[in-house]
Amino acid sequence: MDQAAQAQAADGDGAHASDHARATPAGPRLLGLGIDFGGTGIKAALIDLGTGELASKRVRMNTPRPSTPEAVAQTVAKIITIVGRDLRIPDNIPVGLGLPGVVKHGQVMTAANIDKAWVGLNADEVIGAAIERRVFAMNDADAAGLAEVRLGAGRDSTGTVLMLTVGTGIGSGLFVDGRLVPNTELGHIEVNGRDAETRMSGAARERRRLRWKTWATEFNEYLAHLEAYLWPDLIILGGGVSKVVDKYRESLKSRAPIVVAHFRNTSGIVGAALNAADHVGDLPAETVTEQFAADLAHAQAAEAAQALTTT
Ligand code: BGC
Repeated sequence: MDQAAQAQAADGDGAHASDHARATPAGPRLLGLGIDFGGTGIKAALIDLGTGELASKRVRMNTPRPSTPEAVAQTVAKIITIVGRDLRIPDNIPVGLGLPGVVKHGQVMTAANIDKAWVGLNADEVIGAAIERRVFAMNDADAAGLAEVRLGAGRDSTGTVLMLTVGTGIGSGLFVDGRLVPNTELGHIEVNGRDAETRMSGAARERRRLRWKTWATEFNEYLAHLEAYLWPDLIILGGGVSKVVDKYRESLKSRAPIVVAHFRNTSGIVGAALNAADHVGDLPAETVTEQFAADLAHAQAAEAAQALTTT
């Protein structure tokens, strides 16, 4: 087993292609490639853009230390090569990247849990050059939220939906009637004068050796702050901490209902791919393959027909 395969096998939440292939309806599938660059791991997979299910094996490697742009770009390239061995990656497929920082038009503006050399760089260009594809970068929690709001735990919700990813850091994705308000960075609000993330992320819980119940009590205080500012109608919990929700579910308190991310730890990959597909429409026509355009038209027509029969 090579390093990536070992890393993947060791990562218990791995949803495998074969699990999902069964759940995916037959018919033409529109695929996207999603990459999630996190403080601890980098993951990628081909995604069925209609369902959000994984269409290929999900490949994971540890985030290099230090997580410099060069090292991360190299790791992403290795991961994509391995994904491509599982299922050929179509040319000009939409490729999305989620990363843990503020991203504006591809440019990384902050880097709390990754190497500071990222700040000021254009992630679309850095990763795009490494994998020789057009890449669309966004904040990782925004990506996770997009997947959940479109296809997952928030798909039937209107109003204000707040996605929180709790893992190495705390990320937030805010949606109003399905539209993203990007780069909210609510993991960095202060609770009792301290940055919430440094006290209440999954990594902080481990560092502080907090029992789940104690962590939940502090996290409730954080939630109360967020609710006082935003009054969400639904809170979706994702990130590493959401994998073990049974350990603390009973202790969580909030005004809005809290649900666990449907795509669990893969929401970030799924949302990054969806976002890239959204942007393909903005690309010059010659960079969109005829096959992709045909598949897109087909999928849109099928969706419209479906809507007609269900209304
Ligand atoms: C970053 C966010 C990110 C979150 C989760 C925070 O430290 O500032 O941009 O979404 O971690 O990765």
